[in-house]
Amino acid sequence: MFNDHMAHPRHFGSIPDPDARGRVFNPLCGDNLEMTLRVQDGVIVELKFQTYSCGVAVATCSLLAEKVAGLRVEEAERLGHGDLVAEMGALPADKVHCPNLAFSGLKAVLRDFREREAGKADPHGVLAYEIHPHTASPGERP
Ligand code: FES
Repeated sequence: MFNDHMAHPRHFGSIPDPDARGRVFNPLCGDNLEMTLRVQDGVIVELKFQTYSCGVAVATCSLLAEKVAGLRVEEAERLGHGDLVAEMGALPADKVHCPNLAFSGLKAVLRDFREREAGKADPHGVLAYEIHPHTASPGERP
């Protein structure tokens, strides 16, 4: 299943005029990710992603996009690595960090949603940025 998400990622792309946008960039290896979100009445209708990264990160984004559809925002905020263990299986040691990019992206896009909800969104459209060093925990700033 994981390999299929790697070869055929679901929800790849960008939602036009989204309800939230989150971006993650790793200056160490150049990986980057943008997630966009559509929410209706507190429920996630769709999450889409665009990324320049490795296959494991792509597959994790694809799985996350499927997982969050239909969840309430607060449920998506509680998602962590443990929720995808069954789908991801055991990763090679040098790839264990890769899902962090996807989880950081999810954290960024949900944070942007909350900021917009609170009227704190960046008026220039440059919204939630997070640095994603391979050595950090998901969403953790260096
Ligand atoms: S090598 Fe950086 S996310 Fe996989």
